[in-house]
Amino acid sequence: MKSFFHVQDIGNLNSAINEAFQVKKTPFAWKELGMNRTIMLVFFNGSLRTRLSSQKAALNLGMNPIVLNIGQDSWKLETEMGVVMDGDKSEHLREAIPVMASYCDIIGIRSFAGLSDREYDYNETVLKQFIEFGGKPVISLESATVHPCQAFADLITIEEHKRNPRPKVVMTWAPHPKALPQAVPNSFAEWMNAADVDFVITHPEGYELDPRFAGNAKVEYDQMKALEGADFVYAKNWSCPGVRDRSQYGSILSKDMSWTVDDRHMAVTNNAFFMHCLPVRRNMIVSDSVIDSPTSLVIPEAANRVVSAQVVMKRMLESL
Ligand code: CP
Repeated sequence: MKSFFHVQDIGNLNSAINEAFQVKKTPFAWKELGMNRTIMLVFFNGSLRTRLSSQKAALNLGMNPIVLNIGQDSWKLETEMGVVMDGDKSEHLREAIPVMASYCDIIGIRSFAGLSDREYDYNETVLKQFIEFGGKPVISLESATVHPCQAFADLITIEEHKRNPRPKVVMTWAPHPKALPQAVPNSFAEWMNAADVDFVITHPEGYELDPRFAGNAKVEYDQMKALEGADFVYAKNWSCPGVRDRSQYGSILSKDMSWTVDDRHMAVTNNAFFMHCLPVRRNMIVSDSVIDSPTSLVIPEAANRVVSAQVVMKRMLESL
């Protein structure tokens, strides 16, 4: 595996899930595979789960993880080409990437969408520079448009907890005070469309995901109707993807608190499990009562981030 951005990169989903269960059962069985190998984890943005689970996964495989927080541990990096660097950014990605790549075997990058220029974000401009100038396998640790390690962990969690062969999975938009990227819902939609589930997306008008991620998923604008009979409720906020109106890209179109997932919403489901990638704003995205209920999977979901990262790193090590 040379890169991990999209569901297609993992190949057959059933094989990947079985491998994930094996990795979870015997996490140290491939300790020799990563010996004398280094993974560079580059963070342009904050993180708790991705940072720690990636390091843990690398250590389980016997690899040396190096974490770099851009702008805190390093110089501030310029990401635009052709600019006069007379500001506060001391180094260009064009030099920094090959230097970082020369110190490692695999690179993981967290680089969020700026949410001001749709074309720049949806072209994955920063990630593509790491591919072009690094020459090493690249993992998206949440880039502008995708968060595949999260979506893979979500799928593993659903497979572990499903009570029927083809569960109904509903991804619902929920309110948030800040404009958030679309990477998590994009990847979740992409992975659920590839998985054997009955997938429904619900959000207010104007929040339609980019068709390359939404695919043929059913979109139901009536949230309560969408949630009827759900086996899994996956809550997430995202800002306007700018599909209907490019000028609205990255903006907040609604703060409607009736979309906050609470007991009223869960009552119409099939005693559904609640999921969220975390971090979560309590009583904005989800009520205390739902996230603290026995059917909340937010902690096992986060724990599975080690498993998804380890499968991906294992496959990359095997193809070096
Ligand atoms: N879910 C997730 O990616 O969490 P962090 O932003 O804390 O890494």
